Amino acid sequence: MNTPRPLTLDVNHAEHTLCVAPDTPLLYILRNDLACNGPKYGCGLGQCGACTVLVDGLAARACVLPVKALLGRAVTTLEGLGTPQRPDPVQQAFIDEQAAQCGYCLNGMIMTAKALLADNPAPSEDEIREALRFNLCRCGTHVEIVRAVQRAALLQRRNEAGAQP
Ligand code: FES
Repeated sequence: MNTPRPLTLDVNHAEHTLCVAPDTPLLYILRNDLACNGPKYGCGLGQCGACTVLVDGLAARACVLPVKALLGRAVTTLEGLGTPQRPDPVQQAFIDEQAAQCGYCLNGMIMTAKALLADNPAPSEDEIREALRFNLCRCGTHVEIVRAVQRAALLQRRNEAGAQP
């Protein structure tokens, strides 16, 4: 049954109760109901990565994820990583490296990089390329993107070292 009903979603550390059809893709809810426009609609088929979010810390494609699969799970979007005043190290690194042309893929690149660095704080270049290989960029900004992830890893490790007593 895909009749609209109240569902509670945890998005960016806040609970949202919405009346939605359970099979609705998460991406539609994020963009249309919760004003989270970081995740982009690219292919709608789970193939380009533009819609990537974190679900319980793992990268997931919001365009093919029905909201009913997210009950009791924590969703983080680009908006949940940092603020303009205090960007996440991954966001800051992409700014520093100017790792964008049109910018449409950036959400997916950043969210996938965030998941990678949570799992592997010091990835090799090959590991970065492997992690991002299913995130498509039509502008050919791959060199800058890889540099940005390397810089993000460094920034994140420095921040963590600075935070230790
Ligand atoms: Fe979701 Fe392309 S829009 S993977």
